[in-house]
This record gives sequence, C-alpha cells and structure tokens, in this order.
Amino acid sequence: MCGIFGYVGKNNAVAIVIEGLKKLEYRGYDSAGIAGLKDGEIVFCKEVGKISVLEKVLLEKKTVLDLAIAHTRWATHGIPSENNAHPHFDMNRSLALVHNGIIENYAELKAQLSAEGVVFQSDTDTEVIANVIAKYYRGNLPEAVNAALPLLKGAYAIALVHKDHPGKIIAVANQSPIVIGVSQGEVFISSDTHALASGTRDVIFLSDNEIGVISTDKIEIFNCHNEQIEKQTETLKYSGEEVSKGDYEHFTLKEIFEQPQTIRNACSSRLMEEYGTSFFEGLAEHLADLHTVERILILACGTSWHAGFVASYLIEEYARIPVQVEISSEFRYKNAIVAQNTLVIAISQSGETADTIAAVRELKRAKAAKILSISNVQGSTLARESDFTIFLHAGPEIGVCSTKAFTSQLVILSLFALQLARMRHMNIEEGRQFLEALKKIPDQVSSILKQADSIAQIAKKYAQYNNFFFLGRQYMYPTCLEGALKLKEISYINAVGYPAGEMKHGPIALINEECPTVALCTNHKTFDKIVSNLMEVKARKGPILAIIDESQEKVSAIVDDVIRIPQTIDSLAPILTTIVTQLLAYFIAHELGAEIDQPKNLAKSVTVE
Ligand code: G6P
Repeated sequence: MCGIFGYVGKNNAVAIVIEGLKKLEYRGYDSAGIAGLKDGEIVFCKEVGKISVLEKVLLEKKTVLDLAIAHTRWATHGIPSENNAHPHFDMNRSLALVHNGIIENYAELKAQLSAEGVVFQSDTDTEVIANVIAKYYRGNLPEAVNAALPLLKGAYAIALVHKDHPGKIIAVANQSPIVIGVSQGEVFISSDTHALASGTRDVIFLSDNEIGVISTDKIEIFNCHNEQIEKQTETLKYSGEEVSKGDYEHFTLKEIFEQPQTIRNACSSRLMEEYGTSFFEGLAEHLADLHTVERILILACGTSWHAGFVASYLIEEYARIPVQVEISSEFRYKNAIVAQNTLVIAISQSGETADTIAAVRELKRAKAAKILSISNVQGSTLARESDFTIFLHAGPEIGVCSTKAFTSQLVILSLFALQLARMRHMNIEEGRQFLEALKKIPDQVSSILKQADSIAQIAKKYAQYNNFFFLGRQYMYPTCLEGALKLKEISYINAVGYPAGEMKHGPIALINEECPTVALCTNHKTFDKIVSNLMEVKARKGPILAIIDESQEKVSAIVDDVIRIPQTIDSLAPILTTIVTQLLAYFIAHELGAEIDQPKNLAKSVTVE
C-alpha cells in the first residue's frame, strides 16, 4: 500500500510533492519521505508519522529541489520507523527509491544479495528492489530496471532517482498504478489522478512493466524489451472538486452531512419517472443485452462489500436474478465457477483496491464475464479495467471510513436493480412507486441529520461499553455489518454485526449488562421476528438501543433507548438506518477522543493483497 508522488519542473518540487502527497494520505500515514538530487548527490528526508510532520521538518530546513519523489507509507514489511520509511537506497547510495506494493519473494532476494555482500539498513522489501536495480546498473538506468523487474514477484509501483541521471525520475508500474501528469515545463507522477487535481489533466497511464523516464522536456516510455514506445496522452475531466473540511471538525462528519446532496447526485439524470425505471448513460452500448443476464456476481471489499450484500437482497427481490456476493480477496483464490450469462459487478469507492482489481483481471483473462464497476473515481484503475463504470459523483471522500460513498453505492445499486426488474417482472406502476420512495430519501436523510445532537447524547451513554452487537434481519443484516464496521474503524470498540435470528446459535452466550445491542428494526417484513429476538436479549439483561421508524411502536417498551427515523420501503431502509449508525459511530469515537479521519492502522485505499 502507500502513495507515490513525484515532480520535475520549474517550481520548488518540495512544496509540490508535499501537496500531492497530502492527497494520497488516504493510502497510509505511518511515515513519509522525500528524495531528490542536488549537486550530483541524493538529498532526502524521512519522518515517522503523518505528512505534516515531514512538511514541518522540510520547512525548517528550507529545502528546495527542482526534482523530487515522495512517499506516504502504510507499513507492510517492517514497523513504522524512520529506518523503514521511504525512500530507500542501494548500498552505495547511488539511487533513492519509493515503492507501493509488496515484493513477495523479497526474503529470497535479500538472502541472495546479502550473500553477495550487500548490507541492508531496513526491514523493508523496498530496499531489496533498490539493490537489485543497482546490481544490474551499468550506466543505462532503464536497462538496469528492466533487468531487475523479472526478478521481482508481486504487484508494485516504483519511482526512483539516480545521482548519475540528474533531472530524471524513473517510474514503473506493475499491477499497481502510476499516472504521469504532463503540463507546460513540468511533469508529475502520482499513484492516482485525484492527487494531480489542479496540476494537470493531461495524463499518461503506465501499463504493466512499462518504464517511464521523465524529465521536464521529455517523457520516454520503454517496454520490457528496452524498446521505446509511443503512449497516448489522455485528457481527464477536471471536476473542480472541493476538499476542505469547511466548518466541520472532521471530514468524516462533513461527509456524513453531505449525504442529502450526494444521494441527489447519484440519482441525477438517472431516473425515468414516466417509465418507472432508471437509465445510465452509455450502459446499453457497453453491456449489450441486460435482458440475457442470468446470474450476477458482486465483488468488493470492506464497506463496498456491504453495499454489494444489500444489493443482493434488492436484485433477488425485484429482478429475480440469483446474486452471489464475494469478498474479492477470497474470490481470487477460490477457483470459482462463473456460469454463462453472468454479469460481474465490481464495487470500489477508490477504484484502487488491489484485491478487487486482481479478481476483475482474472475474470477478464478468462473472458469469463462482462465487468460493470461502480466507483467514485474517474480514471481509477478499476474504471479503466471494466467494460463500463457507473460513477457515484459523490465528490472526494477523504475520511478513511467510508460514509457518503456507501449510501451513493446503495442508491446506484437500487436503481440498477430497478432497471433489471423493469426489464423482467416488475410493472410500470411498481417501478414508479419505487422511484417515489427513492425521491423522498434525500429529505428524509436531512431530517435524520437534524437529530445529530440527540444522537450525540445517546452516544455519550454508550461510549462506556467495550463490546457491541448490531442485530438486524433481511435488509438490516448487511446494514448491521456496516454499522458494526463503522464503530470498529473509528472508535476501536469491538462490534459484531449479526443476523438477529442467528444469535441463539451461539453469540447469545455473550449477552449481559456489559454488552449492548444496537437493534436495527426498520425492516417491516421481519419486524415481529426481531422484536422476539430483542426479548431474548432483554431476558439476559443486555442493554438495547433500537433504531425504528415512525410507524413502529411496539419495541419502545422493551428497549433502553430509541432513535426514530422516517418511514420508507424495506429495500431503501438501509440508507436511512445507516445515517444513524454513522452518526452513532462518529459521536462515540468523538466521546472517546479517537482519531476519526485517519484511524490508526487503516488506510482508505488498500493497494496490497
Ligand atoms: C479500506 C477502507 C474502507 C473501504 C475498503 C474498500 O478498508 O478503509 O473504508 O470500504 O478499503 O475500499 P474501496 O475503495 O474498494 O471501496
């Protein structure tokens, strides 16, 4: 994992790479570092902790460079320490290198190099790469890199500078993205297009095993045979997206409060009310015939997987198409059977999650199915690898735990389910009713957000507990998983989402006065059933906080606390219920003084397996 940013050009490279790096901080924030060249020597600085720590040191030192590579780290090999922070060097300090990804055979390579006399300074796999390249270096840097690459097993992106090659950055991508941004008299490299933002929109994406040799006046790309190749420059749309916290204390809170608007954005131009269906521009051309889809396979990780899980209920209920939902990292190694006429839906907010991308690539290699992806990031690797992408238009999500992207994913998946359903069994009136309910959601979300103060009060009471259950049935089961994940991610409290009907098969043994249950009771079809399950919790003295809608009364008598939300149909209740669980997690984390936007050990985009 980790983020890479580089710059060569007319301005001070230090300030520019630090700005770029800050936009990549979602990829990890264990340590940060920078390297450049001055008077034929490598100059570097690295610090443990966030990019702001590195920035402060560089400002104090008044470091100025006309070329720099920089890195923000999420530790894989070796603890977060200055020694393990990037950049890393070859033994003779002739080159400095930053790296995203994992070299799976680093131990063998390290042993071999050690036997040849190389002395290592760190525990990282990155230092191995630097020394392998140095071993093959005979004056031609791209050739040395090309000689080294076949020895490196794994997915990685690399940027390096060499003291014999002033004014040049070498970049390499292998199943991990590197984008080169081209502007007048300056060139940027980045792990994603979002970090380039205002710098440039003209970009070149490096494909696997291509080597970019980058200087202010030219960009040369070499293939694995050391032949120079031509690459097209693409122009990305500039979205002018705003990334400030505004008046909010945290990005996470701001993003929770943005949801009435982001949900509207997800719906925008996609509702065909007259026909009671939805429309995604360009979809029909790319996924020729959605009428023939017989099975759907959903691939995703983390919160996106929860969105996929909710969608499996929706698609099966409305479109009557069997849906299999898989965690990408599990699916990859499963030797799975993909039946004919399967549509694959890959969901990823960032579009950069390594496991989801790898699973998609394997399906593409096997020509197993068409790939529809749902992502928030234009130009992301997943979007480029898919047959068609539906974008969330939620704006950048900066808080590491996903909030607004989740509800936008739910909106898009419900519109897609509606389209499939209208092509099959659902009549126009049912379609219109569904859209009527969906159109009310943004205002209903606003009304829940108005309860933030009272939810904060309830959160104060519940912040004292160390273990939570989140229980629900049917649509509320995946919603429970998401609610529990939010709490774990930002407050570091152990929380388990569970299907309420399964409690009696084991977990009920854990219920006592010290273990509260957050009961998600907004699924009408199973309401009576969950009430019975809550009686079972109550009988064992478990405190209960229930989320119910305005139509439900019965539960108030048996629970300790209640949060009421507006009424909607069961299939859309996950959106409204999730707003409450997000606020609850936020306020509990706040009460505990936890680091909310960048929780410890996490990263927003997991670019390693
Ligand atoms: C990380 C993030 C989660 C996110 C997951 C999948 O674990 O911390 O918030 O849900 O990755 O990310 P994706 O970008 O693929 O949706």
